[in-house]
Amino acid sequence: LAFSSGVMAQRYVVGTNASFPPFEYVEKGEIVGFDIDLVKEIAKLQDFEVEFRDISFDSLIPGLASGSLDIVAAGMTITDARKEVVSFSDPYYSANQSVLVHEGSEEDLTVLFGSNDIGVQTGTTGDTWVRDKLVKPDILTGELRNYDSYVFVIRDLANQNIDAAVLDKPVAETYSKNNPVNVVAEVITGEEYGIAVGKNNQALLKEINAGLAKVIENGTMDKLIEKYFE
Ligand code: ARG
Repeated sequence: LAFSSGVMAQRYVVGTNASFPPFEYVEKGEIVGFDIDLVKEIAKLQDFEVEFRDISFDSLIPGLASGSLDIVAAGMTITDARKEVVSFSDPYYSANQSVLVHEGSEEDLTVLFGSNDIGVQTGTTGDTWVRDKLVKPDILTGELRNYDSYVFVIRDLANQNIDAAVLDKPVAETYSKNNPVNVVAEVITGEEYGIAVGKNNQALLKEINAGLAKVIENGTMDKLIEKYFE
């Protein structure tokens, strides 16, 4: 029998929704991306282990609440409503929303109005924005189509089954590189992404914030930005 010295490192389950490139996406069957590298780096520095689960975005916060997940790393915007239920790390990335349309329909400035159909990922800030700003005031009379995965939002937009999608700008721009879709507008929402843990898990939150500070301090953050956004 071989014994390792010391106690075994804690292992945490990290939830994500891997349809959000370059933050998290699936490549050759593996979950990869900026958030994945970031969490792995924090885990290495703070001496814990992680395993990732790819689930629907709107199951992530319930997963923390029920204890099936320990950490959520999903380009998740820090909002007051979410802070009622979970605790967020210090912010690590800033982003706005954007409007994505099919290539060739960039000139149609009425895409968010009238009978157009708009795709969003369920439970995201983009979903909330369309509902509050367009659907409730009857600016949009077409359908608000909810999806579990951005892969299907982009597929439906590319096939012109929907007229527009509202999603985080860095992700919309990443999709536009390999799909016949283009960003036509930015919606200034001033969002900041945080890593989330269970509401009362202050010990883990402290570890994550300590690791995050080191990642910023030791230049790894700049390297990740360079790797995923050039
Ligand atoms: N930032 C947005 C939000 O918090 C979208 C996040 C979607 N993330 C994902 N991994 N699918 O609602």
